[in-house]
Amino acid sequence: MNELDALVEGARAAFEKAQAPADLENAKAQYLGKSGRITELMKGMAALSVEDKKTRGAAVNLAKQAIEAALTERRQALAEAELLAQLKAESLDITLPGRQRGAGGLHPVSLTLERIEAIFGSMGFEVAEGPEIESDWFNFTALNTPEDHPARSMHDTFYVEGGSEKAPNLLRTHTSPMQIRHAVQHVKRHRAALDAGQGMPEIRVIAPGRTYRVDSDATHSPMFHQCEGLWIGENVSFKDLKFVFTDFCRTFFESDDLVLRFRPSFFPFTEPSAEVDIQFQQGPLAGRWLEVAGSGQVHPNVVRNMGLDPERYIGFAFGMGPDRLTMLRYGVNDLRLFFDGDVRFLSQFR
Ligand code: DAH
Repeated sequence: MNELDALVEGARAAFEKAQAPADLENAKAQYLGKSGRITELMKGMAALSVEDKKTRGAAVNLAKQAIEAALTERRQALAEAELLAQLKAESLDITLPGRQRGAGGLHPVSLTLERIEAIFGSMGFEVAEGPEIESDWFNFTALNTPEDHPARSMHDTFYVEGGSEKAPNLLRTHTSPMQIRHAVQHVKRHRAALDAGQGMPEIRVIAPGRTYRVDSDATHSPMFHQCEGLWIGENVSFKDLKFVFTDFCRTFFESDDLVLRFRPSFFPFTEPSAEVDIQFQQGPLAGRWLEVAGSGQVHPNVVRNMGLDPERYIGFAFGMGPDRLTMLRYGVNDLRLFFDGDVRFLSQFR
């Protein structure tokens, strides 16, 4: 290999070694720069004869062209490699499945409450909400529950500091206090008409919400839900209660042959009182009587505490357990599952 071929090979090797454009430019300078090897060869030709200049010049020129070609080739190769690396770093795998957003859903008991509200709403009932920390007056006294009634036992609910109508002191044991709270507001709104002997529109309301008792097992939770119902007017009777509640249960369970039984019972705030049992004719619970609510005709003392004349106003009330209704509707046998907050359980109701 002659001296010029060796020079070209050397240049190729140097260019090949360059891994970045800057290295390549340095390598180029060594051959084609101001004092590079080719430039030096050109300068050296000044001393040659005209004949030699011709042949030598042509040879050096060929070498120079070969080096330039090698340089261009390497430049392109480096640029391509850089582009490839960049594409690889920024790669977007469009075959990856998208990240899913977990869809939330309502709690099964909330679904039941919505259902209760929709059904009673269709029957002209308003929905009222009230405080969970309640006073002794609304929770017991106003509901005709005497001082020595066992429901007042310290063990039956959670008491907090205080204790007057202004300073509530217990977690309500039922939603029944809402009977009084709502009726009092209703009566207040129609006070003038009532005083003028013109009467008032009927009270028709349900009051769903959380209630508390010192109770905890598979079918009792210290926090549970109730839904109160109240219908007061001048001509509302037990038969209206039977009709309304039967209609509600059949709609709620989507079962037209559901049978209801009103079993005599006792509650301080109703007289007469009845426990409501339902019986499915089909399905896994067919034939069994299942208690779903307490009910009765509102006691005259309670009507009086609403600010109404019990000689003129009469009606019925009921209190049911939405947790129980949820268990029956979905076939769940342990109430605690609803309040454990396990999404594997809860997501089944979405
Ligand atoms: N408050 C009662 C309880 O928690 C349920 C109840 C019974 C509510 C009879 C009523 C009723 O409105 O009339 O056990």
